Amino acid sequence: MKTLMWVFAVLLLSSFLFMIGARELDHSQQRERISGSAGDVLEDDPVGRLKVFVYELPSKYNKKILQKDPRCLTHMFAAEIFMHRFLLSSPVRTLNPEEADWFYTPVYTTCDLTPNGLPLPFKSPRMMRSAIQLISSNWPYWNRTEGADHFFVTPHDFGACFHYQEEKAIERGILPMLQRATLVQTFGQQNHVCLKQGSITIPPYAPPQKMQAHLIPPDIPRSIFVYFRGLFYDVGNDPEGGYYARGARAAVWENFKDNPLFDISTEHPTTYYEDMQRAVFCLCPLGWAPWSPRLVEGVIFGCIPVIIADDIVLPFADAIPWEDIGVFVAEKDVPNLDTILTSIPLEVILRKQRLLANPSMKQAMLFPQPAQPGDAFHQILNGLARKLPHGRSVYLRPGEKTLNWTAGPVGDLKPW
Ligand SMILES: *[C@@H]1O[C@H](CO)[C@@H](O)[C@H](O)[C@H]1NC(C)=O
Ligand SMILES: *[C@@H]1O[C@H](CO)[C@@H](O)[C@H](O)[C@H]1NC(C)=O
Repeated sequence: MKTLMWVFAVLLLSSFLFMIGARELDHSQQRERISGSAGDVLEDDPVGRLKVFVYELPSKYNKKILQKDPRCLTHMFAAEIFMHRFLLSSPVRTLNPEEADWFYTPVYTTCDLTPNGLPLPFKSPRMMRSAIQLISSNWPYWNRTEGADHFFVTPHDFGACFHYQEEKAIERGILPMLQRATLVQTFGQQNHVCLKQGSITIPPYAPPQKMQAHLIPPDIPRSIFVYFRGLFYDVGNDPEGGYYARGARAAVWENFKDNPLFDISTEHPTTYYEDMQRAVFCLCPLGWAPWSPRLVEGVIFGCIPVIIADDIVLPFADAIPWEDIGVFVAEKDVPNLDTILTSIPLEVILRKQRLLANPSMKQAMLFPQPAQPGDAFHQILNGLARKLPHGRSVYLRPGEKTLNWTAGPVGDLKPW
């Protein structure tokens, strides 16, 4: 009986998938407007709306670190390097700090990788502190605001909390020196000590050329209903799966491993990118931190992201209407994922696919070399421009001090 029901479900689904695959083509030429809570801003040009001064630091804070490990250019936090390169030749850059709206400090705090390529953030606090000490003693601008008109790219797992274990990250909190600065980071979760008000959440870095090389013709139908590749359990640290991803990934596996609608596995095939282009829905469940390269991949490959991460703050959420593009499933509702996804009306799916097909949406997720209008670099600048003009509270009165230079773990105070 159960087998018969599956056969029926699969038959029903294949005709459904056929319609989606076929209909998608008709609409791929049509452009749907994209507008987020900040309005229709994805295609804004930041040039002329802000001026950024780039501090010149000794190369030990950036170039030398990269020379030691060129893998930093391809890992998911590479945005800290590419943003620096982008700003150096951007028309928003000013060489005159007196006319700058924003100050940028090029410090690569995430480029210290283990042999397996995982970034170690243990030196990051000291390095950041050292860079801030340097800019605050050599230029007058830091002291004028104690960093309130400065932005920093801190793409590590829990941003400027600089630890990959959540408990430790929470215990550390955001580096005290950065309390007034604007942080540009991949980490985004509401009401979390590692996400400061006013931060700009960005997508993780995903190599644009590599994804481009795997594009398949758009008329290939989407014959997979739900697709996911990745860990369900972190066997090394949490074999029970109760803590890892707050149990959400374990629940996906336990409930749907034998469900023919779900193409899920831990194995990462060479056809991974192609498979995403054959899928209607791609799961983006919470991992160790809520960011997910799968979100970027879903957008690039037109696979509707199914976001399973309560309270996540998604990249450029004020510019991109994630609610219209993706599907949000509460972590507690994972056991009903099949019912939730099969109950979405066809026209809703088609509308999401049309929105995903919009090139400006894809462009906003990427950090291409060289930069292109509307890409993630431009979205960051637009985000900074929307914070202008600075409020009066940004500038301190003469002699006023709010930062405590000796706060935080004593280990962080050691010279770098
Ligand atoms: C800024 O303030 C710090 C700490 O109070 C001080 O050491 C430094 O000399 C000041 N910088 C400038 C340029 O006056
Ligand atoms: C700065 O932080 C240190 C370490 O937490 C603390 O001992 C000190 O009292 C603080 N200073 C001020 C002025 O709050």
